[in-house]
Amino acid sequence: MAKVTIDNIEIEVPDGTTILQAARMIGERNSADRHVVPPTMCYYSKLEGSGGYCRSCLVKVTKGSERDPRPMPKPVASCRTAVMDGMVVENSINAEVRDVRAGVTEFLLINHPLDCPICDQAGECHLQDLSYEHGVSTSRYQFERRTFDPIDIGETIKLHMTRCILCYRCVKVAEQITDGRVHGVINRGDVAEISTYIEQAIDNDFSGNVIDVCPVGALTDRTFRFSSRVWFTKPMDAHRNCDKCSGKVAIWLKGQEVLRVTGRKDQWGEVDEFICNTCRFEKKELSDWVVEGPRNIDRHSVISQGHYVIGPKQKVLDHPAPNVPELARLKPAKKP
Ligand code: SF4
Ligand code: FES
Repeated sequence: MAKVTIDNIEIEVPDGTTILQAARMIGERNSADRHVVPPTMCYYSKLEGSGGYCRSCLVKVTKGSERDPRPMPKPVASCRTAVMDGMVVENSINAEVRDVRAGVTEFLLINHPLDCPICDQAGECHLQDLSYEHGVSTSRYQFERRTFDPIDIGETIKLHMTRCILCYRCVKVAEQITDGRVHGVINRGDVAEISTYIEQAIDNDFSGNVIDVCPVGALTDRTFRFSSRVWFTKPMDAHRNCDKCSGKVAIWLKGQEVLRVTGRKDQWGEVDEFICNTCRFEKKELSDWVVEGPRNIDRHSVISQGHYVIGPKQKVLDHPAPNVPELARLKPAKKP
């Protein structure tokens, strides 16, 4: 076991745990301590070998270990660095970390279009959250942005290559979850892109999971595209008997209409279980599902703001009443 201190909070973790995993353990132990958890754009705990691409999880190690207390000279990727006994790490309390994270965010946004108003991922986009917390309103980049010829990757998944941040998560899903990967990252450097070689459609039972793991709107669900802003939908836990996957999903309702089916995501925005394409794309009737109840979206996002209670036919919407004293406080004071 190793004792590690992150943002002045101590935890004991098994040897081999990474700094990021240790930080998440602190966040899971007490939700008030979640500020110690670095953001992640490429790491995904359910995908082997993920992490190490985006640098958004950089932290400062101010003490290497009990045996060798020297600090690490540069910020390190917390998803790839194992803890040592006696290590001291700084995340949200360190000004240098906040500065490098702003730099990483600016870098990730170099080619990413600011088309959130028309992007289906808006409201659950990790880059949107990262930019909100660490971004700046301008970019120093002066060269032409990357553009791509559109590639058709099938009837159910839409690829917007300009939004891709090359996190490799979808490639790991294809490698580890599906039979016969037909897509990957081709080329390198600033011409690297996600592509299906010979432009084959990604078509197998679990390919839809690339949509759930994509942190941005580069891979979106064609059966849901432009149907609704996600914050206007009601997420419900539901299940069905499925012979390919667990059948445990989140359905996103508008009235009694199932607009979208996704995997159930935890507080870190990662799916608990990968689901099959039949559940995701073909079961769009409410009668296909046994509805368990409203899903509590536990993340820092506008989609956490819906509060639903089960009423007759799971229809009752219970939006929190506006906080009147709070609103009054925000109003400009009347001139005398
Ligand atoms: S398409 Fe999405 S999941 Fe795939 S590499 Fe790009 S950003 Fe990552
Ligand atoms: S989450 Fe660690 S490098 Fe991307």
